[in-house]
Parts: sequence; structure tokens; C-alpha cells
Amino acid sequence: MRDLTILMTVSGFVIFVIVAVLFTLAIRARRDTIGHRGGMRLVLWAGAMIPTVVLAALLIGTLPAMRPIQANRDALIVDVAGEQFWWRVGYRTPDGGTITAANEVRIPVGRTVDFRLSAGDVIHSFWIPGLAGKVDMIPGRTNRLVARATKAGRYRGQCAEFCGLSHALMAFDVVAMDPAAFDRWLLAQRSAAPAPTTPIAQRGAALFADNGCGGCHAVAGTVAAGKIGPDFSHIATRTTLGAGIIPMSEVNLSRFIAHAPSVKPGARMPAYTHLAPADVATIARYLETLK
Ligand code: CUA
Repeated sequence: MRDLTILMTVSGFVIFVIVAVLFTLAIRARRDTIGHRGGMRLVLWAGAMIPTVVLAALLIGTLPAMRPIQANRDALIVDVAGEQFWWRVGYRTPDGGTITAANEVRIPVGRTVDFRLSAGDVIHSFWIPGLAGKVDMIPGRTNRLVARATKAGRYRGQCAEFCGLSHALMAFDVVAMDPAAFDRWLLAQRSAAPAPTTPIAQRGAALFADNGCGGCHAVAGTVAAGKIGPDFSHIATRTTLGAGIIPMSEVNLSRFIAHAPSVKPGARMPAYTHLAPADVATIARYLETLK
């Protein structure tokens, strides 16, 4: 990308110089310093031949960069489904299994990633401007997007198709990491959620169960197996909350639990106004231990 920008800038400058020279010559030609025949030759060379050669060279030079990336056999397959208003993520494992996550996609640097895109309710659009193009997510069908990160870091993604009240609040991060670190991370995601060890986390887990949170959210290794909302098994490893809109913190978790509609208008999660603020904070403390 950077090389391409430099190339375009330089060639733009060269074209500018050519035009400026031609312009000067044209003014001089009016004063009859160049004869008719010399003028024709100049127009032919500077006006037709040189631009043709320059543009052809640019085209040939940039064609390889425009070629779409092909998914090879060892590509990592990641399923992403658009939901109102969050992202359901699944990493396919070589043994045919799936590791479920949500709202943050991690990928290894240098490896081709084959995104399989779908939607659970209405049409969404999967867009990671810094990494790959924009592909619609349509209920009932699977679209593909092949991408490869060449540099480690965070790439911001955003839903790019109007999908309801919180369309603009439907973002996510793609975290490109060192392949070894990615493998370690994926292995950890595969295991059950850590059991609560502190008294407050244990109380939070009990409140989570008593209030029926597990009806919509899954916590691997517990009875909570809901599939309507995001998976919580390792929610505390994500850096943002609510599909990339607010930082992961106890305060923000509490805000979301107590009154989801004010954080995310139109979301399917109702407000839990009957819960005491202390209980909300205790559930948030429990969620924070799910690493
Ligand atoms: Cu999802 Cu817009």
C-alpha cells in the first residue's frame, strides 16, 4: 500500500512536469519558434507515446497488488455471523470442532484467513477497512472474504449495512497476533471458563444463574448454554464490550447488565431494573474473572 502510494505520487509529479513543459512549449510555439512539423512530432511523443508507456507501466506494476488473495488449504476458517447488534464468531478447528467467541476476532499474522460470513436476523455487512474489503452478511447464505494481515496490531471493523437502531454501534476489533501467541490464545479459548474462586465471584456466578442470564449467554463448563446473546466463556479476554463500543471494565459491564437498552438501543437484551445495584456489580465482578 505504501509502495503504491509512493509510486502514484512520483508518477503524478512526472505527469505534472510533462504538462508544464508542454504548456511552456505551446506558448513558445505561438511565437513561431517551433515549426509545424516539429510541433506534430512533439504532440505525438509527449502527448501520446510517453503517457501510453507511463500508464501501461503503472498498470503492469499495480496488477499484482490488485489480485485477490486465494484461500489456501491451511487457511484459518473463521465463521462470523451478524446479529442485532453484535458479532457471533466461531474458529474452526482441524478436528471439525468450533471454538465460539464474540465481538472480537483474533487472527495470526501472515496466515490466510477465510472468513465465512452469514447473518442471524437481518442483512449486515462485514468491513475491516485496514485489512480487507466489505462483504454483505445475508441471512440464509454464506459469503466469503479472504484476508491476510502482514503486520501485528488492531484493525477496526464496522458493520457497513444499516441493520437497525444500533447499526452505528456495531463495531469490532480484529487483533492480528504473532502465530505462536495466537495458537496459545486459541487453546485457552477452547477450554472451559475458569471456575469462580473468590467469594464475590462465586456470589456473582450464583446471581448470574438465579437471574436466568444463562438462558441467553453461554459460559462453557457451566449450565449456562444460551445462544441468543454473545458467548461469555472468556469475555474478560476481550478489550471492549457491546461489540467494540465501550472499554471492558466493571463499571461498563454493570451499565450493560442494569440497562442494556440505554447502552445499545434496539438490542434484544432487556433492562434489569429490578436488580439491586450491588447485585449488578457482583455479576460484573464474576464476568471479569472469565478469562
Ligand atoms: Cu449490523 Cu449494521
